[in-house]
Amino acid sequence: MKFKVMGVSAGRKDSNCDILLKEALLACQEQGAEITMINLKDYNLLDCTGCTACTMGMSMGKNTGCSLKDKDDKDKIMQVLLNQDAVIFAAPTYALMPSSLYLKFMHRNLAYESAFLTKIGAIEPRDRVGALIAVGGSTRSWQSLALECMQITTVTNSFKVVDMYMATMVPAPAQVLLYDEKIARAREIGRNVMKALNTPAAERKWLGDPDAGWCPNCHSNSLCLGEPQWKGLQYPIECTVCGAGGDLVKTDDGKWKFVIAENGLERDRTTEEGRGVHCDEIADTQGGFFMNPQNHAVVAEKIQKYKAIQFPGV
Ligand SMILES: Cc1cc2nc3c(=O)[nH]c(=O)nc-3n(C[C@H](O)[C@H](O)[C@H](O)COP(=O)(O)O)c2cc1C
Repeated sequence: MKFKVMGVSAGRKDSNCDILLKEALLACQEQGAEITMINLKDYNLLDCTGCTACTMGMSMGKNTGCSLKDKDDKDKIMQVLLNQDAVIFAAPTYALMPSSLYLKFMHRNLAYESAFLTKIGAIEPRDRVGALIAVGGSTRSWQSLALECMQITTVTNSFKVVDMYMATMVPAPAQVLLYDEKIARAREIGRNVMKALNTPAAERKWLGDPDAGWCPNCHSNSLCLGEPQWKGLQYPIECTVCGAGGDLVKTDDGKWKFVIAENGLERDRTTEEGRGVHCDEIADTQGGFFMNPQNHAVVAEKIQKYKAIQFPGV
């Protein structure tokens, strides 16, 4: 049976993201994969309204789905995307992070949250491979949140990200074609996706640069100071993407290293078990709010002040 590999681009048509993505997909196709590719600019995609019907449903054990399901193309795409063995995402960097089109599409994944839906028995777990390509006009310094934001949005559908590539210094349309090494790196993304697909799911590992990023768990380049989490768990330092907890340690050669604590992967967001804790948190915080009638009375009274204020708009 052929592996199914899909490419999702949020870049300009026939420009850097599309080109690098196609190169990666070609490598997959050469190894026998069945390829699908879309550019999000071709679809009608609405912003998540924030109605939270999906998570409210899930926290009560129901698969409510998205309230926008029949209003745009998101569900049509998800029916294909969630049926893939692997998906490669490519997004342009805007203001350090993936473009709003990419984020708009990916934030809607909450209604399809694999860990939550598996936990309530609405779906069967499925192993998926993921890979990321971020493209920007500048160096990593001006793309500092790009791969990190891309990775956390793929976690929602349990993609195991096995490689990610940041193509730097290509601001102009299709400029990446001037750099053979960037095209070659994109091809390597495709090869690594196929390598992962040809490995039993339980043994799939990170295939990018072993030293990439600060976090040895998800290879993100982004850490923050830990604060108490839901139910009090706290670490000195956390990975902002996967939530791994630990501390910075100075190595013998005088460099800083992020070392994950013994219990540091308790809420690893890249795993369904780790995200399941967040499902419980939502049931407790959001569900807890809705279940207590007194909360509604307090909010209904206090909201009047703010509803009455109408500052001039534009
Ligand atoms: C609104 C906007 C913001 C941008 N911000 C950044 C940025 O913060 N960092 C960066 O490296 N490039 C930035 N860029 C450049 C794009 O990432 C770059 O043009 C990239 O090649 C676009 O990919 P594409 O050709 O696939 O569309 C920005 C471009 C636009 C239009």
